[in-house]
Amino acid sequence: MLSREDNELLCRVGPGTPVGAMLRQYWVPALMSSELPERDGAPVRVRLMGENLIAFRVTSGKIGLIQNHCPHRGASLFFGRNEEEGLRCVYHGWKYSCEGHCVDMPSEPEESNFKSKIHATAYPCVERNDIIWTYMGPRQTPPPLPDIEPNMLPQGEYSVQKVSRECNWFQGLEGDIDTSHLGFLHLGAIKPEQTTPGTFDYYNVADRAPKYEVVDTEFGTSYGAYRPAEADTYYWRIAHFLFPFFTMIPTGILGMQVLVRAWVPLDDEHIMFWSIAAPRSRLGSGAAGGASGLNAGGRAVAAAGARPGGFEFLPDTTDWLGKFRLTQHKDNDYLIDRKAQRTESFTGIAGIHQQDQAVTESMGPIYDRTQEHLGTSDAMVIRTRRRVINAARALRDNAVTPPGVDNPAVYRHRSGGVILPRDADWLEATKGLREAFAAEPTPEKSVAP
Ligand code: FES
Ligand SMILES: [Fe+2]
Repeated sequence: MLSREDNELLCRVGPGTPVGAMLRQYWVPALMSSELPERDGAPVRVRLMGENLIAFRVTSGKIGLIQNHCPHRGASLFFGRNEEEGLRCVYHGWKYSCEGHCVDMPSEPEESNFKSKIHATAYPCVERNDIIWTYMGPRQTPPPLPDIEPNMLPQGEYSVQKVSRECNWFQGLEGDIDTSHLGFLHLGAIKPEQTTPGTFDYYNVADRAPKYEVVDTEFGTSYGAYRPAEADTYYWRIAHFLFPFFTMIPTGILGMQVLVRAWVPLDDEHIMFWSIAAPRSRLGSGAAGGASGLNAGGRAVAAAGARPGGFEFLPDTTDWLGKFRLTQHKDNDYLIDRKAQRTESFTGIAGIHQQDQAVTESMGPIYDRTQEHLGTSDAMVIRTRRRVINAARALRDNAVTPPGVDNPAVYRHRSGGVILPRDADWLEATKGLREAFAAEPTPEKSVAP
């Protein structure tokens, strides 16, 4: 469990909070490039870490991400005119550049220099492989983008997906670093005889109580969860948390799977989940009978990220939280099918991601962790919370830069499953597989300011 004080610290992400300050040290995925398809097109509402912002793509193609309220008298810049390299407020015509400078003030006399004193909060943005990253931190010159492998592959060799979730960011993230729920939430109705002996699936359902080893790393934390495979081997699921909100999960084959997930806080009670994957990850998922290859009673239980395009969304709205909302949501109980739950599915809820969504949202927007009872299978969750809380405190109290900010290469990592001899050291034996990294950095398309 966590103390009330630590739980508050972990969950609050707004400006001025310790974790909010820690998160703002890093580049953050803000939008997909496809959300701002046109130059001079419609501005878009964006909520990030408790801040309401307006995103727009100007005439030259650059991206602006600016405070919602016009610095004049607070009208929303969402209604602004996106024209000639800037966003013009429709109330009195003040116009702002991507950098937040007021570049035109037609409501003041020609000779006034008042506009030179007006500046809107604006965050620099960079586009790389269909993701618009932003930096909301204090540095004049932002740090480098992290070396996220699937975000650096050539065009056509990666896919990006987003799904919104209605709970605190760390609550969502904890589901990704808790391998023991796989055998229940996702595979609880699968019997060993429904799987092929000698596959990861078989080992997963033959023994549902893996043992854990957890270590601190230069990028965050890693775990190896192991259970018997054959008489002289273990099946290891190796996965990572990478500061500040990335995970690499162990669904596929270690060394082949290229999959990074992000749990980006929109505010204290909403997350945007991102999956950034190389399609060849599917090879990594299926070839050894990875868990994502399973089908429960005709219902796909594929893992998010491994199969692009598998989500059904509600119609978009222009609201702050109006996009990437699944049709299965808490108001319809995620379309739970109780008959299926009795006969063929542990949950009766279709879809692995939707199952995760149901349980983590059902904990409430911000779970009171003073009420929980943690077991040995929660070792990675415990270690990762501690790491994040300590990093936030070290930044607040001693100005210590958190892990990875100035060292993009620490993100060059992979996760997945592997069969090792029982006497092998899991970290030693998998060094090359974990550190494999084929991508060369691709140049950014646009930078603003
Ligand atoms: S409120 Fe925006 S120009 Fe007056
Ligand atoms: Fe899950």
